[in-house]
Amino acid sequence: MPSYAILGATGQIGGNILTVLLAKQPPVEIHCFVRTKAKLLKAHPDLASASNVTIYEAGLDDTAALAQCIKDTRAVFLTAAASENVPGCEVAQQQTRAIIAALKNLLPSSQANEKAPAIPKLVVISSASVTPRLFGASAPWIMQRMVHLAFYHIYTDLEKAEAVMRAESHWIPQVYVKPGGLTHDAAHGHVLASELKPGFLSFVDLAGAMVEVAGDDGGVEGVEGKWRWDGVDVTVNPAREGTRVEPWLPYIVPKGLLWTFAPWLYPYLGSWLP
Ligand SMILES: NC(=O)c1ccc[n+]([C@@H]2O[C@H](COP(=O)([O-])OP(=O)(O)OC[C@H]3O[C@@H](n4cnc5c(N)ncnc54)[C@H](OP(=O)(O)O)[C@@H]3O)[C@@H](O)[C@H]2O)c1
Repeated sequence: MPSYAILGATGQIGGNILTVLLAKQPPVEIHCFVRTKAKLLKAHPDLASASNVTIYEAGLDDTAALAQCIKDTRAVFLTAAASENVPGCEVAQQQTRAIIAALKNLLPSSQANEKAPAIPKLVVISSASVTPRLFGASAPWIMQRMVHLAFYHIYTDLEKAEAVMRAESHWIPQVYVKPGGLTHDAAHGHVLASELKPGFLSFVDLAGAMVEVAGDDGGVEGVEGKWRWDGVDVTVNPAREGTRVEPWLPYIVPKGLLWTFAPWLYPYLGSWLP
Protein backbone atom coordinates (compact mmCIF):
# COMPACT_ATOMS: atom_id res chain seq x y z
CA MET A 1 0.00 0.00 0.00
CA PRO A 2 1.58 3.38 -0.93
CA SER A 3 2.06 5.60 2.06
CA TYR A 4 2.10 9.36 2.51
CA ALA A 5 3.00 11.65 5.41
CA ILE A 6 1.37 15.00 6.14
CA LEU A 7 3.03 17.68 8.28
CA GLY A 8 0.43 20.25 9.36
CA ALA A 9 -2.58 17.90 9.07
CA THR A 10 -4.54 20.12 11.48
CA GLY A 11 -4.32 23.07 9.07
CA GLN A 12 -6.65 24.04 6.23
CA ILE A 13 -4.37 22.71 3.48
CA GLY A 14 -3.05 19.67 5.37
CA GLY A 15 -6.59 18.80 6.51
CA ASN A 16 -7.91 18.90 2.95
CA ILE A 17 -5.01 16.72 1.76
CA LEU A 18 -5.95 14.24 4.49
CA THR A 19 -9.57 14.23 3.27
CA VAL A 20 -8.48 13.61 -0.33
CA LEU A 21 -6.13 10.79 0.72
CA LEU A 22 -8.80 9.18 2.92
CA ALA A 23 -11.13 9.00 -0.08
CA LYS A 24 -8.59 7.17 -2.25
CA GLN A 25 -9.49 3.69 -3.52
CA PRO A 26 -7.73 1.40 -3.02
CA PRO A 27 -6.86 2.91 0.37
CA VAL A 28 -3.42 4.36 1.04
CA GLU A 29 -1.46 4.48 4.29
CA ILE A 30 -1.41 7.94 5.87
CA HIS A 31 0.94 9.27 8.56
CA CYS A 32 -0.13 12.54 10.20
CA PHE A 33 2.45 14.58 12.11
CA VAL A 34 0.70 17.05 14.42
CA ARG A 35 1.32 19.09 17.53
CA THR A 36 -2.09 18.22 19.00
CA LYS A 37 -3.70 14.86 18.29
CA ALA A 38 -6.99 15.95 19.94
CA LYS A 39 -7.30 18.84 17.48
CA LEU A 40 -6.86 16.47 14.53
CA LEU A 41 -9.41 13.99 15.89
CA LYS A 42 -11.91 16.79 16.50
CA ALA A 43 -11.68 17.82 12.83
CA HIS A 44 -11.63 14.18 11.57
CA PRO A 45 -13.43 11.99 14.16
CA ASP A 46 -13.40 9.05 11.70
CA LEU A 47 -9.60 8.80 12.13
CA ALA A 48 -9.95 7.18 15.57
CA SER A 49 -11.07 3.95 13.89
CA ALA A 50 -9.16 4.24 10.59
CA SER A 51 -6.71 1.33 10.34
CA ASN A 52 -4.71 3.00 7.54
CA VAL A 53 -3.91 6.17 9.53
CA THR A 54 -1.11 6.62 12.10
CA ILE A 55 -0.92 9.83 14.10
CA TYR A 56 2.40 11.11 15.41
CA GLU A 57 1.95 13.76 18.10
CA ALA A 58 5.18 15.72 18.44
CA GLY A 59 6.86 19.05 17.81
CA LEU A 60 9.03 19.78 14.79
CA ASP A 61 12.10 19.56 17.03
CA ASP A 62 11.47 15.83 17.69
CA THR A 63 13.70 14.47 14.92
CA ALA A 64 13.28 10.81 15.93
CA ALA A 65 9.46 10.99 15.81
CA LEU A 66 9.52 12.84 12.51
CA ALA A 67 11.97 10.34 11.00
CA GLN A 68 9.66 7.50 12.08
CA CYS A 69 6.66 9.30 10.54
CA ILE A 70 8.25 9.81 7.11
CA LYS A 71 10.12 6.46 6.94
CA ASP A 72 9.17 4.36 3.90
CA THR A 73 6.67 6.93 2.60
CA ARG A 74 6.34 7.71 -1.09
CA ALA A 75 5.85 11.44 -0.49
CA VAL A 76 5.67 13.93 2.37
CA PHE A 77 3.37 16.96 2.27
CA LEU A 78 4.96 19.97 3.96
CA THR A 79 2.01 22.15 4.95
CA ALA A 80 2.97 23.43 8.41
CA ALA A 81 2.88 27.17 7.82
CA ALA A 82 1.79 30.52 9.15
CA SER A 83 -1.50 31.71 7.68
CA GLU A 84 -1.38 35.08 9.49
CA ASN A 85 1.22 37.71 8.60
CA VAL A 86 2.93 37.34 11.98
CA PRO A 87 6.10 39.46 12.20
CA GLY A 88 9.19 37.23 12.25
CA CYS A 89 7.28 33.97 11.65
CA GLU A 90 9.61 31.06 10.91
CA VAL A 91 7.35 28.00 10.76
CA ALA A 92 8.31 27.10 7.18
CA GLN A 93 12.01 27.41 8.03
CA GLN A 94 11.58 25.28 11.17
CA GLN A 95 9.74 22.66 9.13
CA THR A 96 12.50 22.65 6.50
CA ARG A 97 15.30 22.24 9.03
CA ALA A 98 13.28 19.51 10.79
CA ILE A 99 12.63 17.46 7.66
CA ILE A 100 16.25 17.67 6.51
CA ALA A 101 17.39 16.48 9.95
CA ALA A 102 14.82 13.65 9.90
CA LEU A 103 15.88 12.53 6.41
CA LYS A 104 19.54 12.53 7.47
CA ASN A 105 18.47 10.45 10.48
CA LEU A 106 17.13 7.79 8.10
CA LEU A 107 20.37 7.49 6.15
CA PRO A 108 22.59 4.58 7.17
CA SER A 109 25.84 5.55 8.87
CA SER A 110 28.93 5.31 6.69
CA GLN A 111 30.10 2.25 8.67
CA ALA A 112 26.81 0.37 8.34
CA ASN A 113 26.56 -2.07 5.48
CA GLU A 114 22.94 -1.13 4.74
CA LYS A 115 21.27 -0.14 1.52
CA ALA A 116 20.34 3.56 1.50
CA PRO A 117 16.54 3.97 1.81
CA ALA A 118 14.52 5.67 -0.93
CA ILE A 119 14.16 9.35 -0.06
CA PRO A 120 10.47 10.39 -0.12
CA LYS A 121 9.45 13.21 -2.43
CA LEU A 122 8.64 16.46 -0.66
CA VAL A 123 5.52 18.28 -1.85
CA VAL A 124 5.84 21.76 -0.37
CA ILE A 125 3.07 24.36 -0.07
CA SER A 126 4.26 27.80 -1.08
CA SER A 127 2.64 30.73 -2.87
CA ALA A 128 2.62 32.23 -6.36
CA SER A 129 3.54 35.49 -4.63
CA VAL A 130 7.10 34.30 -4.04
CA THR A 131 7.56 33.57 -7.77
CA PRO A 132 6.08 36.54 -9.71
CA ARG A 133 6.57 34.75 -13.09
CA LEU A 134 3.67 32.43 -12.16
CA PHE A 135 1.25 35.36 -11.93
CA GLY A 136 1.42 35.91 -15.70
CA ALA A 137 -1.51 38.13 -16.66
CA SER A 138 -3.70 37.05 -13.75
CA ALA A 139 -3.49 40.29 -11.78
CA PRO A 140 -2.21 43.86 -12.34
CA TRP A 141 1.27 44.55 -10.96
CA ILE A 142 -0.08 46.88 -8.26
CA MET A 143 -2.38 44.16 -6.93
CA GLN A 144 0.45 41.59 -6.88
CA ARG A 145 2.57 44.11 -4.98
CA MET A 146 -0.17 44.81 -2.45
CA VAL A 147 -0.74 41.09 -1.78
CA HIS A 148 3.00 40.59 -1.36
CA LEU A 149 3.14 43.40 1.19
CA ALA A 150 0.04 42.15 3.03
CA PHE A 151 1.66 38.74 3.63
CA TYR A 152 5.27 39.93 3.67
CA HIS A 153 6.35 37.99 6.80
CA ILE A 154 4.86 34.69 5.55
CA TYR A 155 6.50 35.07 2.13
CA THR A 156 9.87 35.95 3.65
CA ASP A 157 9.65 32.74 5.70
CA LEU A 158 8.69 30.70 2.61
CA GLU A 159 11.51 32.21 0.51
CA LYS A 160 14.15 31.50 3.15
CA ALA A 161 12.82 27.96 3.67
CA GLU A 162 12.90 27.25 -0.08
CA ALA A 163 16.49 28.50 -0.37
CA VAL A 164 17.59 26.13 2.44
CA MET A 165 15.70 23.16 0.95
CA ARG A 166 16.92 23.78 -2.61
CA ALA A 167 20.49 23.65 -1.36
CA GLU A 168 19.76 19.95 -0.59
CA SER A 169 18.21 19.21 -3.99
CA HIS A 170 21.13 16.91 -4.96
CA TRP A 171 19.65 14.26 -2.62
CA ILE A 172 16.11 15.40 -1.69
CA PRO A 173 13.45 15.38 -4.46
CA GLN A 174 11.17 18.39 -3.96
CA VAL A 175 8.36 20.23 -5.71
CA TYR A 176 6.85 23.61 -4.82
CA VAL A 177 3.11 24.02 -5.25
CA LYS A 178 2.46 27.77 -5.55
CA PRO A 179 -1.22 28.69 -5.76
CA GLY A 180 -2.75 32.17 -5.95
CA GLY A 181 -5.64 33.14 -3.66
CA LEU A 182 -7.37 30.28 -1.81
CA THR A 183 -10.99 30.14 -0.72
CA HIS A 184 -13.39 27.85 1.12
CA ASP A 185 -15.61 26.51 -1.60
CA ALA A 186 -16.72 23.24 -3.16
CA ALA A 187 -14.48 21.34 -5.56
CA HIS A 188 -14.33 22.72 -9.10
CA GLY A 189 -11.54 20.38 -10.25
CA HIS A 190 -7.89 21.35 -10.62
CA VAL A 191 -5.40 21.89 -13.41
CA LEU A 192 -1.65 21.95 -12.74
CA ALA A 193 -0.15 24.92 -14.60
CA SER A 194 2.91 27.07 -15.12
CA GLU A 195 0.84 30.28 -15.20
CA LEU A 196 -1.90 31.43 -12.85
CA LYS A 197 -5.32 32.42 -14.16
CA PRO A 198 -7.39 35.20 -12.52
CA GLY A 199 -9.67 34.10 -9.69
CA PHE A 200 -9.56 31.89 -6.61
CA LEU A 201 -8.88 28.20 -6.05
CA SER A 202 -10.69 26.17 -3.38
CA PHE A 203 -8.67 24.50 -0.64
CA VAL A 204 -10.02 21.11 -1.67
CA ASP A 205 -8.90 21.61 -5.28
CA LEU A 206 -5.43 22.63 -4.09
CA ALA A 207 -5.32 19.43 -2.03
CA GLY A 208 -6.31 17.39 -5.10
CA ALA A 209 -3.49 19.01 -7.06
CA MET A 210 -0.89 18.30 -4.35
CA VAL A 211 -1.98 14.68 -4.12
CA GLU A 212 -1.77 14.35 -7.91
CA VAL A 213 1.79 15.68 -7.90
CA ALA A 214 2.76 13.36 -5.03
CA GLY A 215 1.32 10.27 -6.69
CA ASP A 216 2.79 10.92 -10.12
CA ASP A 217 5.94 8.82 -10.21
CA GLY A 218 6.67 9.58 -13.87
CA GLY A 219 10.23 10.41 -14.82
CA VAL A 220 11.92 12.76 -17.28
CA GLU A 221 12.61 11.29 -20.68
CA GLY A 222 16.31 10.72 -21.22
CA VAL A 223 17.26 11.53 -17.59
CA GLU A 224 18.01 8.50 -15.44
CA GLY A 225 16.23 8.42 -12.06
CA LYS A 226 14.80 11.94 -12.22
CA TRP A 227 11.26 12.52 -10.97
CA ARG A 228 9.10 14.50 -13.38
CA TRP A 229 8.30 17.25 -10.84
CA ASP A 230 11.71 17.45 -9.18
CA GLY A 231 12.64 21.07 -8.46
CA VAL A 232 9.60 22.39 -10.33
CA ASP A 233 7.46 25.40 -9.33
CA VAL A 234 3.89 24.52 -10.20
CA THR A 235 0.75 26.57 -9.75
CA VAL A 236 -2.87 25.39 -9.82
CA ASN A 237 -5.99 26.73 -11.57
CA PRO A 238 -9.58 25.57 -11.05
CA ALA A 239 -10.82 23.33 -13.86
CA ARG A 240 -14.14 25.21 -14.02
CA GLU A 241 -14.87 28.90 -13.51
CA GLY A 242 -17.11 30.16 -10.73
CA THR A 243 -15.03 29.58 -7.55
CA ARG A 244 -16.22 32.14 -5.05
CA VAL A 245 -14.07 35.08 -3.97
CA GLU A 246 -12.79 34.75 -0.40
CA PRO A 247 -15.25 36.97 1.53
CA TRP A 248 -12.68 37.85 4.24
CA LEU A 249 -10.30 39.43 1.71
CA PRO A 250 -11.25 43.10 2.39
CA TYR A 251 -10.41 42.45 6.05
CA ILE A 252 -7.36 40.14 5.74
CA VAL A 253 -5.39 42.38 3.38
CA PRO A 254 -5.51 45.61 5.47
CA LYS A 255 -4.78 43.59 8.62
CA GLY A 256 -1.75 42.00 6.94
CA LEU A 257 -0.54 45.43 5.78
CA LEU A 258 -0.78 46.64 9.39
CA TRP A 259 1.60 43.89 10.59
CA THR A 260 4.00 44.65 7.69
CA PHE A 261 4.20 48.40 8.24
CA ALA A 262 3.71 48.48 12.03
CA PRO A 263 5.05 45.12 13.29
CA TRP A 264 5.57 46.61 16.77
CA LEU A 265 1.77 46.77 17.15
CA TYR A 266 1.45 42.98 16.83
CA PRO A 267 2.27 42.14 20.50
CA TYR A 268 -0.52 44.52 21.59
CA LEU A 269 -3.20 43.89 18.95
CA GLY A 270 -2.30 40.51 17.41
CA SER A 271 -4.36 38.32 19.73
CA TRP A 272 -7.11 40.92 20.02
CA LEU A 273 -7.98 41.35 16.32
CA PRO A 274 -9.96 38.36 14.94
N1 LIG B 1 -4.79 31.40 2.05
C1 LIG B 1 -4.36 31.69 0.84
O1 LIG B 1 -5.01 32.39 0.04
C2 LIG B 1 -3.02 31.14 0.38
C3 LIG B 1 -2.66 31.28 -0.94
C4 LIG B 1 -1.43 30.76 -1.37
C5 LIG B 1 -0.59 30.14 -0.47
N2 LIG B 1 -0.99 30.02 0.82
C6 LIG B 1 -0.05 29.42 1.77
O2 LIG B 1 -0.70 28.49 2.61
C7 LIG B 1 0.01 28.43 3.84
C8 LIG B 1 -0.99 28.45 4.99
O3 LIG B 1 -1.61 27.17 5.03
P1 LIG B 1 -2.95 26.91 5.82
O4 LIG B 1 -3.98 27.87 5.35
O5 LIG B 1 -3.22 25.47 5.75
O6 LIG B 1 -2.52 27.34 7.32
P2 LIG B 1 -3.24 26.92 8.68
O7 LIG B 1 -4.64 26.50 8.45
O8 LIG B 1 -2.99 28.05 9.64
O9 LIG B 1 -2.43 25.61 9.14
C9 LIG B 1 -1.13 25.74 9.59
C10 LIG B 1 -0.64 24.35 10.01
O10 LIG B 1 0.72 24.53 10.42
C11 LIG B 1 0.85 24.03 11.76
N3 LIG B 1 1.83 24.84 12.49
C12 LIG B 1 1.82 26.18 12.68
N4 LIG B 1 2.87 26.55 13.43
C13 LIG B 1 3.55 25.40 13.73
C14 LIG B 1 4.72 25.11 14.49
N5 LIG B 1 5.44 26.08 15.09
N6 LIG B 1 5.11 23.82 14.58
C15 LIG B 1 4.41 22.83 14.00
N7 LIG B 1 3.30 23.04 13.27
C16 LIG B 1 2.87 24.31 13.14
C17 LIG B 1 -0.52 24.18 12.38
O11 LIG B 1 -0.61 23.32 13.51
P3 LIG B 1 -1.58 23.65 14.74
O12 LIG B 1 -2.95 23.24 14.28
O13 LIG B 1 -1.06 22.81 15.84
O14 LIG B 1 -1.49 25.12 15.01
C18 LIG B 1 -1.40 23.77 11.21
O15 LIG B 1 -1.44 22.38 11.09
C19 LIG B 1 0.97 29.63 3.86
O16 LIG B 1 2.28 29.17 3.53
C20 LIG B 1 0.48 30.48 2.73
O17 LIG B 1 1.50 31.23 2.11
C21 LIG B 1 -2.17 30.50 1.28
